[in-house]
Amino acid sequence: MINGNQVENHYLLKAIETIKRQIIIISHDYKILASNCNPDIKYFLNRNSSEGEICYHALFNFDSPCKNCPATEVKKTGKPSLKRIVIDDENNLNTKKNLCSCLYAYPMEATNNDEEDAIVVLDFDLPSIFRYDEKRVTSNAFLRNLINSAADGVIAADMTGKIIIFNKAATEISGYTRKEAIDYLNISDLYPPGDAKKIMKKMRSDDYGGKGLLKGHKQAAIRKDGTSTPIVLNASIVYEDDKEVASIGFFHDLREAKRLEAELEKMQVQLLQAEKMSSLGKLAAGVAHQLNNPLGGITLFTQLMLEDYDINGDAKDDLLKIQRDAERCSAIVKELLEFARQTKREVKLQNINKIVGRTLFLLRNQAIFQNIEIIEAYDTSIPEIPADIQQLNHVFMNIILNAADAMEGSGILEIRTFLKNSDGMAHITISDTGPGIPESILPTIFEPFFTTKEEGKGTGLGLSMAYGIVESHHGKIKAENRPEGGTIFSITLPLKQVGESHS
Ligand SMILES: Nc1ncnc2c1ncn2[C@@H]1O[C@H](COP(=O)(O)OP(=O)(O)OP(=O)(O)O)[C@@H](O)[C@H]1O
Ligand SMILES: [Mg+2]
Repeated sequence: MINGNQVENHYLLKAIETIKRQIIIISHDYKILASNCNPDIKYFLNRNSSEGEICYHALFNFDSPCKNCPATEVKKTGKPSLKRIVIDDENNLNTKKNLCSCLYAYPMEATNNDEEDAIVVLDFDLPSIFRYDEKRVTSNAFLRNLINSAADGVIAADMTGKIIIFNKAATEISGYTRKEAIDYLNISDLYPPGDAKKIMKKMRSDDYGGKGLLKGHKQAAIRKDGTSTPIVLNASIVYEDDKEVASIGFFHDLREAKRLEAELEKMQVQLLQAEKMSSLGKLAAGVAHQLNNPLGGITLFTQLMLEDYDINGDAKDDLLKIQRDAERCSAIVKELLEFARQTKREVKLQNINKIVGRTLFLLRNQAIFQNIEIIEAYDTSIPEIPADIQQLNHVFMNIILNAADAMEGSGILEIRTFLKNSDGMAHITISDTGPGIPESILPTIFEPFFTTKEEGKGTGLGLSMAYGIVESHHGKIKAENRPEGGTIFSITLPLKQVGESHS
């Protein structure tokens, strides 16, 4: 008969025997005291009667305890220990290549004199360790992907400055490939000389977002070609047990933001200019209206005096002068009214080359053009554009006359028309070989009444009118000095009525 205790022991032993874990009980000198033996266990012992043998020899044919053995740790500390063991070719274990396992060991104190203190060693949840490894690999891949697809440049370096992470955006900001950066580049090469040190210093201080941090730092990044890219840098030091091990920086490219900023600024200037023009235009129109009647009176009564009275000599000359000047005033008033778009507009589809050609035809026989060489280059593929022919004549006439004035009657006048980049605009450029426009007055030449010409020679209304007319055609006009000397006026006019759908 077997008693209850024996039954319990019997089942316990059977349970240990059949568990799919390798359990080995060893003495403090690594002698195997007992082990279970389940044919399903693929690791380690898996054979009978190894009792009395030295475990590392019996298991792996080693001459000394395995590296990282948890039993050795238990011997040292008297506490349970969990260790990860990789058994590879180096350890000469030809039957269990690259086997990776976790071993758990705990102390088992002797409870009677026949026993000695022992250590229980069991393999520990191997499949889940593998699953964990798999997960680690996939989550590593995910992290790599995450870093690589970040919109900002992500660059990490070790404490010597050697680059260890360099994502796709970093390649775009710096111009270096990943391979060039990771193999050959030092983080300090990405900044102007001395800046890398300054950045580290800032990160180590508490003042820039906390210790180990640098937030929103405006910085220049040096590209492979030596040019610099403006960036906002967010960086931090990576610590391991309080020790600095690496630094990581997020490079936010400011080029696009800067471009937009500049564009906005330009638009604001243009808006201001347009506003100024429109209010000056209204003012001019008001003044012109007010002046129209008294001017009409002066002309009429001067005429009457000349006709009704017998006036001769100096008096007659004076009256004629009054009449001439009054007529000149009327002409200015007329221009002012046109500038303020008080005249009726008539927009039709027109051939821009013909408009420019007609203006030139009217002008080229004038004395001032005698010594001016005129080069004409017209793109005949430009379709007809919606335009008021009179108004555009006025624009070209003014610009061409200004050019002739600037060249003081001798030089080269070049007129070109062309299409560009399918931008939906007709382009017209008029350039001269005159002295150019001083940079200081360049922003003011389109303002009404701005003139550098002597009194009586220019009203300063020509370009402001041209500006108003081109704007009303939904086009653009600008003046620049040419690097080779002289001035170039560029006008763009839409090929289609604004608001009309493009086919
Ligand atoms: N091609 C050019 N080269 C140099 N300066 C120029 C040129 N075109 C215009 N300017 C400058 O711009 C100023 C303004 O030109 P704008 O045509 O508005 O007036 P204006 O020619 O002086 O007088 P008007 O009202 O008789 O045309 C000119 O006085 C001149 O200083
Ligand atoms: Mg002019």
